[in-house]
Amino acid sequence: MRTFRVELGAQAHPVHIGPGLIARAGDLIVAAGLDSTRCAVVTDATVAPLYASPLVESLATAGFEPALIEVAPGEQSKSLHTAETVFEQIAQARIERSGFVVALGGGVVGDLAGFVAATYLRGIALIQVPTTLTAQVDSSLGGKTAVNLRSAKNLVGAFHQPRAVIADIATLSTLGEREFREGLAEVIKYAAIMDGPMIADLERDMDAILRRDLSVLEAVVERSLRHKAYVVERDEHESGLRRILNFGHTIGHALETAAGYGSFLHGEAVAVGMVAAARLSREFAALDISDEARLVSLIERAGLPTAIPTRWRELGLLDAMALDKKRAGGAIEFILLRELGHAITRRLTLDEIVAHLS
Ligand SMILES: NC(=O)c1ccc[n+]([C@@H]2O[C@H](COP(=O)([O-])OP(=O)(O)OC[C@H]3O[C@@H](n4cnc5c(N)ncnc54)[C@H](O)[C@@H]3O)[C@@H](O)[C@H]2O)c1
Ligand SMILES: [Zn+2]
Repeated sequence: MRTFRVELGAQAHPVHIGPGLIARAGDLIVAAGLDSTRCAVVTDATVAPLYASPLVESLATAGFEPALIEVAPGEQSKSLHTAETVFEQIAQARIERSGFVVALGGGVVGDLAGFVAATYLRGIALIQVPTTLTAQVDSSLGGKTAVNLRSAKNLVGAFHQPRAVIADIATLSTLGEREFREGLAEVIKYAAIMDGPMIADLERDMDAILRRDLSVLEAVVERSLRHKAYVVERDEHESGLRRILNFGHTIGHALETAAGYGSFLHGEAVAVGMVAAARLSREFAALDISDEARLVSLIERAGLPTAIPTRWRELGLLDAMALDKKRAGGAIEFILLRELGHAITRRLTLDEIVAHLS
């Protein structure tokens, strides 16, 4: 098991990464300082039959009384409606101010259960037990929780730091191929924006990663989480540095919206967005053409898409980005690469973006 701490003052907490950690979760939660007996494990109907029993058992052995709460799998569960059903079940289980919520699942469960923990009784403790690669390298750390409204994603939420993150990498073995590869987009993102040498390590290890070799995955998940922690420690509420984590996301989000949710998974859209951002980086941040090519081929080797759909104008990509532009007041704040491992921020106009992407 690998362990490090996210240093956030009173919100500081441990992060554990390793195979088989679900069976040790009870002890790790005791070690994190939680001692109330009643708690809730929130999970989805796909993850429950795979991992809920060992987690509940481990909690019970450590002296806790867990109530299991199941929601339907998928993004539609990140809603106020589902949150309400979870609140009701937590109330029925008589979980008190000193109780806690364990989020067992991907980013959907993490965001939903996190939102519930952030608001139930004005906030109770939260433990993240991420089971997708996206959740293990990204959403479980950083304290962002949210549900969606019909009009847009993540519109209602709160910052609520977990008391511990427990990433059991053995759970990645049951993840679908497409969901696994999608998580690699965020891994490559960390290397691109803040760890040049990690690009070479990912090039060397990509075959082992795709085989889901546990020791290689453990190192990759730890390195990614340490990078996220570094950024979050310096900018918890996203007023500056944390924005570099949006590399590939401006065009990625626009693509997700324009193409309709579902046609591109988030990580796939981010992969295309990173390729587009690398092209713009060549123009506006003097990124070397060979660095751009290296990033694109790494994304390809991860089995992720790299081409912006040729009908992107018709897809409404421009409209989607114009919405971003409105928010930023004129130009779009873009994360570019000066070199592999070094991100900068630049304001670009829609015209500049269009001129270099079409
Ligand atoms: N809070 C943040 O900082 C943050 C960051 C990134 C993404 N997110 C959010 O995360 C969500 C996406 O998360 P996701 O990609 O993990 O999707 P997800 O939670 O929907 O999980 C994907 C699918 O995999 C299944 N699954 C989960 N673990 C499994 C396992 N070990 N084996 C087999 N199947 C498994 C789930 O049931 C689901 O059907 C989005 O809502 C996004 O907004 C939040
Ligand atoms: Zn992302």
